[in-house]
Amino acid sequence: MILSNALVKTLTAKIPIMKTQLSTKEMAVLNFLSLNDVDKLTKMLNDAHSEEWLTYYQCWIGAILMEGPKKKEIKPELFILANQELNHALLIKQRMLELGITPIHNPSKTKKMPRCQTPINPYIEVILNQNLEKEGTAIQMYKEIADFTLRKDQKTHQLAIRILNEELQHALDIEKWLTDIQLAKVKLKMPSVANHFAIDV
Ligand SMILES: [Fe+2]
Repeated sequence: MILSNALVKTLTAKIPIMKTQLSTKEMAVLNFLSLNDVDKLTKMLNDAHSEEWLTYYQCWIGAILMEGPKKKEIKPELFILANQELNHALLIKQRMLELGITPIHNPSKTKKMPRCQTPINPYIEVILNQNLEKEGTAIQMYKEIADFTLRKDQKTHQLAIRILNEELQHALDIEKWLTDIQLAKVKLKMPSVANHFAIDV
């Protein structure tokens, strides 16, 4: 059979996809995952990858925009936290590539649509509470990945536990900052409900 140039081109284009599938099957055997498990883990890691990118952006833009008491102290801390979220995205991406999974780079294309709250109110407590909510989502997400991979894929399990611990620490840090703000407000005799001012970004 003589293949047309167009068909040769089409088959050649499929080669990287076939390599990815083979690698994923190999991974299933090596890591005691069934192919259904591989599909589920692929979805979970893609969701985590998207969540991390959006959390990074949410923390970063929040740190830039924030206004209010303790801003001077908390802003640089929030930039550090944002960079740790970026590192989570890179760690998840690296693990996906090791497993032969090609990450979906457009968050809106992942099945579970991740949420990103772009601040419409720059008041520091509003921004920190939005970020605290995001940490809660991440904690739940990594608990699920850790449970799912236990005794099936030890390396991904260890990574999920490592990131989970960092997310728990982030939540504690944010709660502490919120407490510091309350104390500062008492000192400054500010009203308990701050004047919120909305802006578009
Ligand atoms: Fe994270």
